[in-house]
Amino acid sequence: MVKTIVWKDNQVVMIDQRKLPMRERYVVCKDYRSVIRAIKGLVIRGAPAIGVAAAMGVALGALKIRTTGMDHFKTRFDAICREMVAARPTAANLSWAVERMKQVADEAIQRGVKWAKSRLVEEARKILEEDITINQTIGRYGQRLLKDGTRVLTHCNAGALATGGYGTALGVVRAAVEAGKRIEVFADETRPFLQGARLTAWELKASGIPVTVITDNAAGYFMQQRKVDAVIVGADRIAANGDVAKKIGTYMVAVLARTHKIPFYVAAPMSTIDVSIKSGKEILIEQRDEKEVTHFQGRRTAPNGVAAGNPSFDVTPHRYVSAIITEKGIMIPPFKAKIRKVFTSG
Ligand code: MRU
Repeated sequence: MVKTIVWKDNQVVMIDQRKLPMRERYVVCKDYRSVIRAIKGLVIRGAPAIGVAAAMGVALGALKIRTTGMDHFKTRFDAICREMVAARPTAANLSWAVERMKQVADEAIQRGVKWAKSRLVEEARKILEEDITINQTIGRYGQRLLKDGTRVLTHCNAGALATGGYGTALGVVRAAVEAGKRIEVFADETRPFLQGARLTAWELKASGIPVTVITDNAAGYFMQQRKVDAVIVGADRIAANGDVAKKIGTYMVAVLARTHKIPFYVAAPMSTIDVSIKSGKEILIEQRDEKEVTHFQGRRTAPNGVAAGNPSFDVTPHRYVSAIITEKGIMIPPFKAKIRKVFTSG
């Protein structure tokens, strides 16, 4: 399976997701600022993957701090963490990962700067490894929801490329296939960055899982034709009441799924759940450059001077969600008490 991101010789190497599937090219980040640029520019994207990148980015930043003074190190490290968190605002995993790295730094610094640096590198690599295992666990739980022959519709890319590996929504698909079930996938192309057409299709094809790319506006048609049995998506931030922020267009898919009585499943690690916010209303939606909408591959497709709106995510209210699958198991509505319980039971 593809390696989305690796730590190699004190550098962060990531597959360039802007270029796939046409070119398989890797970007090498030698300092934390180039990791920030890669996250902002969508070289690496997907909530868990940018969490891993952020952890590796701040570890890279820590390595370059030239001091033996503990206080100076901590001041510099905290500043790097603040810059990293600001790279993209919607995915919970990014700030979750940076917070975890800050805790490691706080503890490790008692034993000196050198020790803190090596602990930070170790922790970033651990976050990557853990993410893969978590996705496999999500897959094992989630695949129980899919019968042999299920035709799944997914939006954006919640696969190996959006995570440390294996994937969340696509991890559920992979696990079902590994369990011997025949699964077909409809991949919404996902304008404007085409995560579905380019990335989901690419990785499913590579894994030998049948995939059909459809335009975003064809999802309703295929549901109406009774060609879709289940929708599975990942998530970028889940509020305490189960509202789900996810790639723009997901809300539309959820409403359509409800109309057609098709289950709408969300697969995500616990690190995507943000219990500090009561509902999706509190989620900050990233607004990206208008050019992503008015241009295609560098060429203008809309008239000169016309305005464009480019929210990168939307919020699907919890009432449209049939189940949330995490590494702790499957939660069905009502979510609020179950989410609280899963957090308090550790
Ligand atoms: O803008 P992106 O590509 O980072 O948006 C990503 C998504 O919406 C993903 O599907 C989501 O992060 C879940 S990833 C397992």
